[in-house]
Amino acid sequence: MSNIVQQDILQQLKQLQKDAETALAHAKSAEATRNWYSEYLSRKGRLTGILRNLGSLSAAERPLVGKVANEVKAVLENALQERQAAIAQAELEAVRRAESIDVTLPGRPQNLGKLHITTRALRDIYAIFTAMGFQIYDSPEVETDEYNFQLLNMPPGHPARDMWDTFYTTTPGLLLRTHTSPGQIHAMREYAPEPIRVILPGKCYRYEQVTARSESMFYQVEGLAVGKHITFSDLKGVLINFANQMYGEGREARFRKSYFPFTEPSVEMDIACILCNGKGCPICKYTGWLEILGAGVVHPRVLEYGGYDPTEFSGFAFGMGPERMALQKYSIDDIRYFYTNDVRLLERV
Ligand code: FA5
Repeated sequence: MSNIVQQDILQQLKQLQKDAETALAHAKSAEATRNWYSEYLSRKGRLTGILRNLGSLSAAERPLVGKVANEVKAVLENALQERQAAIAQAELEAVRRAESIDVTLPGRPQNLGKLHITTRALRDIYAIFTAMGFQIYDSPEVETDEYNFQLLNMPPGHPARDMWDTFYTTTPGLLLRTHTSPGQIHAMREYAPEPIRVILPGKCYRYEQVTARSESMFYQVEGLAVGKHITFSDLKGVLINFANQMYGEGREARFRKSYFPFTEPSVEMDIACILCNGKGCPICKYTGWLEILGAGVVHPRVLEYGGYDPTEFSGFAFGMGPERMALQKYSIDDIRYFYTNDVRLLERV
């Protein structure tokens, strides 16, 4: 009788192996293999269920059934491992296929950025003046009426203020600076009574008509030298040296007498127009010359406001427009291109 039971159990084990192998072949995902394991090999699975009947066998019959059961288990565990590995491989392949990159495709060209023309002009100016021993000094864009005008010898009502109308803030007496000259006072008050040699770059604002050569926002680079025995000749020497380096030796430059309330004497410096070669064009107002800066010997009263004794100290100052210089250097015919954000401008340099 018990021999029949033994045969029956062995038969069940065989059937189990067959069923399990067929089911495993149909398992197509990691989850399916986990379900398969729990159905056939787990503690609550079918193999354990069959082995529960081992108790009905005699001691002599049990070893054979036990051995066969272990073999079936080992075969199925092996098969499971192989199946899991195959599924993992297939999943990886599927991901690879879905995210495939064609490495033979040529890359998309990157658009390389360029420095803005104003930045280039400013850097050229910094390089030339720092080589002559000038330091770069930063001063505010939002100024008081006192610094923008009064301390530069333009008390309220002074007619020269009309040359520099600006944008006012809602705070009385606070305005956007019209030129970098108020920086002269900041630098002098910081360094007096030491000698000074600085350039002061930055943005300026003017409430005036925008034209091919004038913007309402533009840069200036101010220069200031204060010390003992500084003369107008020093100013000329520095500016001619600058023009030679900025535009190349031989570019014609000229000084014209001018008026600024904060310098005496005052001049303006022009260079021969590169765009029209002196023939006359809208940029040079048909004169053949382009004004690039205003300059002069620092007025004694301004020296005093800055904290220097004008009987002992003297100085020179200048204020130049980098955009105007860049127009010439890069043959651009309209200053309005500078800040309209059209990148084609950058291709021109
Ligand atoms: C002044 O602003 C004086 N502060 C310069 C100065 C400094 C004189 C120190 C004496 C001593 P002016 O307004 O001329 O001066 O401007 C100086 C330069 O700034 C001009 O030569 C020009 O190159 C540039 N500039 C002036 N207005 C504009 C504008 N609207 N757009 C572009 N550049 C301008």
